[in-house]
Amino acid sequence: MAAKAPIPVYTQLNDLYNNLGTTVDHATRWNNLAEEFEKRFGRKPAYIARAPGRVNLIGEHIDYCLFGVLPAAVERDILIAIAPRAHDVPGHTVADNLLPKYTRAAFAPSHNHNEPSDSAVRAEPWHLEINPAELRWESYVKAGYYGVLNQYFTPGSPVPVDLLVTGSVPAGSGLSSSAAMVVASTLAFLAVNGKLEPNLTNVGSKINKGELVQLAVRNETRVGVNSGGMDQAASVMCDASSALYISFFPTLSATPVALPHGAVFVCANSLVVSDKAASAKFQYNLRVVETLAAARALALRLGVMVGPKEAITLREVLGRHVGEKEGEEISVEKLEEALVKLSQEVEGLRPATSADGQLGVKLDEMIALTGLDTATFDELYFSRFQVEATYFQLYKRAKHVYDEALRVLQFRKICIGGGSLEQLGDLMNASQKSCAEVYECSCPELDQLTTLAREAGAIGSRLTGAGWGGCTVSLVPEAQVESFIAKVRDSYGPYKGLEGDKLSEVIFATKPSSGACVYKFERRNVERSNQLCSRQGCMP
Ligand code: GLA
Repeated sequence: MAAKAPIPVYTQLNDLYNNLGTTVDHATRWNNLAEEFEKRFGRKPAYIARAPGRVNLIGEHIDYCLFGVLPAAVERDILIAIAPRAHDVPGHTVADNLLPKYTRAAFAPSHNHNEPSDSAVRAEPWHLEINPAELRWESYVKAGYYGVLNQYFTPGSPVPVDLLVTGSVPAGSGLSSSAAMVVASTLAFLAVNGKLEPNLTNVGSKINKGELVQLAVRNETRVGVNSGGMDQAASVMCDASSALYISFFPTLSATPVALPHGAVFVCANSLVVSDKAASAKFQYNLRVVETLAAARALALRLGVMVGPKEAITLREVLGRHVGEKEGEEISVEKLEEALVKLSQEVEGLRPATSADGQLGVKLDEMIALTGLDTATFDELYFSRFQVEATYFQLYKRAKHVYDEALRVLQFRKICIGGGSLEQLGDLMNASQKSCAEVYECSCPELDQLTTLAREAGAIGSRLTGAGWGGCTVSLVPEAQVESFIAKVRDSYGPYKGLEGDKLSEVIFATKPSSGACVYKFERRNVERSNQLCSRQGCMP
């Protein structure tokens, strides 16, 4: 199973390039990064870690409720070249970026052993300063480093390093640049500290893909976002030829899903930057709290047993309501039936509409609906991440989650068992409607772009990722991709006049790419690389 598989560590360029399964000119990018590293730091890198972005085909804002999602990794990725440095304080890091707007940063982790353990962060052995209110590009590098330090260096000291980053996943585009950065950083620090590769007595890498996903998810909370595991799982576990059905309950698992013949998924960037971390208080983290409070309120209504300090999720409420055994998962057919049922039960959370048509509840009403006292509610839901709202939308959020989870299963069934592209398109359109009207995570530009996409020949179109900006994904028949892109270019205002690379920066057909991996520079590769130069670039 994908979660138990080792992280690929390549020492042969042929193996690496064959595995990537991408069409972009990767050899040039990898070479360029290695050469720049040598120019800037005076020696070759020891490793390059790669983590791709992802496009989510369907299943938005349900991963943190523990429902399955269906993303695919994309060709666009983050690469981090890294090498140890001699004679410096342990763990000291010089982080550079090929993009000049991201200036060089230097930082070192501090050891907390003499600090008072007055908070969860301070209680950890290692500390790195990350201020979620003032995030910089290297905050994501630090986030990846954090878990490596605290999981692998108690006791022990990390090596000092130089690293250089390059990325082709646009930030804030909904293609998961932050997870790609955090996964690549986690991998780079593991590799350079000898925590990734097998030693003589080990087979496979020391950390498997599932463990890397869990570590990267925890690492990403360091930038203040309480995200689910979809982005990290897609970035680590995807296959070059298919989408991935990722399930989070009862444990993380992933199975490849072949995409239907003749279907192409085209990403289009609305060019509205959606900074998940900056807006988390009013958007992403708020949605997480709303779904958790909805789950607790629904459990109370349905007489589902919940532990006094348990932050039960909507998936767990469903399972307990239909008598699912602990640690087991009901069949897909039963899950579909249960989702239909729970989508109806959610109606019980619908408040009597107020004069202004408001379907939300005020804070004190929300707490009352969960049956908790204020102190317990605060501790359970507000202690790690702050959120702010006048009205909390428990009914709407739970409704979207159950309906969207059902759409994922239907979409997957069509991909596996055959069905028409039109059926897939209908599910994508229904998902967009629900994201816009019920989950309220779209924005006018995304609504416009999905409408224009349908007018330009897309069978279905929806936002992808967290929303509130970023990209749409459209299902387009293979033969029409070119004309589709041209029509959208001519109709979406911000694209007018774009040609060539400028156009393919903002609207492009995706091709499923493989998950994260590491290239290791070995002395013998230097000799071999000379033969590879003419064909595939000459990295080492
Ligand atoms: C972001 C998060 C994911 C997921 C999506 C919405 O990308 O990182 O975990 O919740 O939003 O589906």
